[in-house]
Amino acid sequence: MSRFERKILFAIGLSVFLTLGGSIFLARGAMREVYRVGVNERFGAELVHGVEARRGQLMALRSGSEQAADAVEWAVEAELTRSRNTSKLDALLQNLLGRYAMVQGIRVDDEAGREVASVAREADPSGAVMRTTIRERAVETGGAELRIAVEVAVPEVYFERLQEAGEVADVYSRLQRQSASVSDVYVWVFGFMAFLVIVVAFLIGAVVSRRVTRRVTALAEASRKVGAGDLTVTLPTGSTDEVTELTQAFNDMVRDLRDSRTRIEYLQRISAWQDFARRLAHEIKNPLTPIQLAAQEVDDTYDGENEAYRKKLKHARAIIEEEVATLRRLVGEFSAFAKLPRADLTPSDLCDLAHSIHDSVPAILEDVGRGTPAPVEVRVSCATEPIRVRMDPMMLKRAVDNILRNAIQAVYEEHPSGGGRVLVRAYCTDTAGFIEVRDNGPGIPKENWDRVFDPYYTSKTEGTGLGLAIVKKVVLEHDGHVRLDRAHEGGARFSIELPLMGTR
Ligand SMILES: Nc1ncnc2c1ncn2[C@@H]1O[C@H](COP(=O)(O)OP(=O)(O)O)[C@@H](O)[C@H]1O
Ligand SMILES: [Mg+2]
Repeated sequence: MSRFERKILFAIGLSVFLTLGGSIFLARGAMREVYRVGVNERFGAELVHGVEARRGQLMALRSGSEQAADAVEWAVEAELTRSRNTSKLDALLQNLLGRYAMVQGIRVDDEAGREVASVAREADPSGAVMRTTIRERAVETGGAELRIAVEVAVPEVYFERLQEAGEVADVYSRLQRQSASVSDVYVWVFGFMAFLVIVVAFLIGAVVSRRVTRRVTALAEASRKVGAGDLTVTLPTGSTDEVTELTQAFNDMVRDLRDSRTRIEYLQRISAWQDFARRLAHEIKNPLTPIQLAAQEVDDTYDGENEAYRKKLKHARAIIEEEVATLRRLVGEFSAFAKLPRADLTPSDLCDLAHSIHDSVPAILEDVGRGTPAPVEVRVSCATEPIRVRMDPMMLKRAVDNILRNAIQAVYEEHPSGGGRVLVRAYCTDTAGFIEVRDNGPGIPKENWDRVFDPYYTSKTEGTGLGLAIVKKVVLEHDGHVRLDRAHEGGARFSIELPLMGTR
């Protein structure tokens, strides 16, 4: 794991820990507070008091009903003892029922269980349920034994209330006992969830940071390679983020470095070849005049009679003079190549260049056709708007002339009796000006596309192979590119690209 990843994970862990830890702390506090307000001892004590009060109330009711029963029994007993007559008993019972509200019914039976007198209260119209008890008592009156039964009742609702109050008090005291452990359970659950969130956040953080760091590490690795001189590295760019922008900038930088390195290498190579050409020209040029003079001398001074020998001499002199002339032309080209000046760039219009090319077409046609103009159709075209670039018009014209001469030579060889076409066109895009030369000649096999720009690479018997080397040197000194590919006319397409002024 890289330091960057560790830092990102630490930051994620810290922020999750702080927020969740803080919320656990707050939640725990809030829970405690809720319990402190809702579940406290005073509440509990009040509830217990309530239960006791209800129980007291019920007891009072029951003892009240007992007393009522007692009072009824005494009154009935006193009446029976006073007069053995039971005829007034009914009125008395009625009276007692009216006096004691808790008494529901009174009944007096004789020994044999036959009813002597009885009253019963009518059912409560509100329909309240009652819990009743019957008290019985035997009374001795004049030898006979009577039984008094008094039915008293307490409304059932008092029992129910007592039970409810007891249950509530129970629940409350259970809550009170559990309050500490309940809030602990919440903290544990919360803590477990926090742990899960931290684990998930870590995993996501690890995945995300790994993706970033992988790309950063790749960049660092690639920079090391570039530092060690390997300019072939390019990094893949995909998504749209800052790292991609960085990668893109890195790729651009490596491409520029690569371009300028190839440029410098080529220019160095050319300058070595120029040195070589200078020495070659010098070595060849010097003996040419003595050779020619000697040949003339031998021919002129022969005054013998041998006609056949004189003829041979004349023939040899002609060959020597022709070959010396060819060598002179080559030497001229070599020393011109050797003395090629550096391009001196000034702001100019690429269209002006195209027009000046147009002017040199007849001379080239005549030269290629060796005296009579080669039957090749050459068209030169340019955009109407000026194409502003920095260039050395003389040098660039020389370069385009070289390309044009090659094209005319190639199509003339392919179509010696007409039908050859060459097109020179200047145009521009947003960032660059172009001048291209296309022909319908034989074209150049792809495997030779790099080599044709090398000095001394030629396929012609009288070629020097210097034309395209000069082109490439001149274009590179213009900060431009020269490219070769296949023209859709079938032949070769050379295109020179120069940066537009103000775009770089
Ligand atoms: N338009 C063209 N069509 C076909 N071949 C070409 C064309 N231009 C250049 N070449 C090839 O590139 C070679 C190198 O050209 P150049 O450097 O001008 O040297 P040279 O013209 O002296 O041969 C030529 O010999 C030829 O084989
Ligand atoms: Mg040439």
